[in-house]
Amino acid sequence: MNGAPNPRLGFAGVGWIGRHRMNAIAATGEARIVAVADPDLDAARNAAAEVGAQAFGSFEELLDLDLDGIAIATPNALHASQSLAAFARGMAVFCQKPLGRSAAETRMVIDAARTADRLLGVDFSYRHTTAVEAMRAEIANGAIGDLYAADLVFHNAYGPDKAWFRDARLSGGGCLLDLGIHLVDLALWVFGAPVVRTTGRLFANGKPFTRGMGGVEDHALLQLDLADGAAVRVTCSWNLHAGADADIRATFYGTRGAVTMQNENGSFYDFTAARCEGTRRTTLASPPDAWGGRAAIAWMRRLAEDRGFDASIERVADVAAVLDSVYALHEPPSTRRALEQTA
Ligand SMILES: NC(=O)c1ccc[n+]([C@@H]2O[C@H](COP(=O)([O-])OP(=O)(O)OC[C@H]3O[C@@H](n4cnc5c(N)ncnc54)[C@H](O)[C@@H]3O)[C@@H](O)[C@H]2O)c1
Repeated sequence: MNGAPNPRLGFAGVGWIGRHRMNAIAATGEARIVAVADPDLDAARNAAAEVGAQAFGSFEELLDLDLDGIAIATPNALHASQSLAAFARGMAVFCQKPLGRSAAETRMVIDAARTADRLLGVDFSYRHTTAVEAMRAEIANGAIGDLYAADLVFHNAYGPDKAWFRDARLSGGGCLLDLGIHLVDLALWVFGAPVVRTTGRLFANGKPFTRGMGGVEDHALLQLDLADGAAVRVTCSWNLHAGADADIRATFYGTRGAVTMQNENGSFYDFTAARCEGTRRTTLASPPDAWGGRAAIAWMRRLAEDRGFDASIERVADVAAVLDSVYALHEPPSTRRALEQTA
């Protein structure tokens, strides 16, 4: 660090992930955590007590404080409106994924950050695993030749344990928006080429899924065609018969080899990565790896240096557009016809 003052931060939503990210930032000793807001006042007070912050029962109270930034980890439906409110007060934002329930909401937040010239970060936490970093480094140094295909998988055999995830108004979508978003982000980030065509199928409880009929999808299978000719397959689910707590894998195929990462023993947290040439396999990374808070910490450190807009966040809009195009295929026929007419 260059001696820049520690940023003054507020945390909105201190459920599972908000509290984890708050503690990860607190552990660095490089930020002043001033306030925590959650309508569950016990949760707010307990979290605030851990870091010596003030507790509030509403998000709006954070807006009246002198903060450099707010970390948002509330249900998905609130992400866009809370981000916009923070930018309107000149604060930077670190938001959990998804930034919005749709590409339009996502676009609105990115545009607001640019207009306010404030830093916007999104918690694409898997980018920061040592396994993904090792794969990216191998690809960048040409070790596997020219990339042409990838296969990414995220099955969570339990599914989320909070009811709002399965309420489309609050979540915006099911496993695709929850888990698939990480995979699409990784694929676009690694390839760097735009998507020219997306196809996909969504299921709920083993039946073809249609939006607006109640509930959300619990199994998604996508294929993305990229402008450079590469093909990407993405599969994700909740409550699948996965044979383990979780099955998380990403493999990138090149003309001279492949790089692959996989969770160990069904773990949500432990990953190995390897480079493969024919039948040979060379380990690139293995657990332990405390990666969960790294995206939040990177945002906080960048904020300490420079609170201005970082244009690299634009890629998040591309990810949202891919998800939107799959959801559009699963609108009821009347909505699809209307969408086609306005396209
Ligand atoms: N980046 C990742 O890898 C990752 C992992 C898990 C969850 N998430 C995301 O984090 C978000 C939260 O997920 P979770 O599992 O922690 O959910 P959660 O339900 O445990 O936590 C949400 C919290 O927000 C609070 N809340 C509700 N309305 C609020 C408001 N108006 N203002 C302030 N707080 C409010 C709730 O009381 C709750 O404590 C979701 O968007 C989810 O997609 C991201």
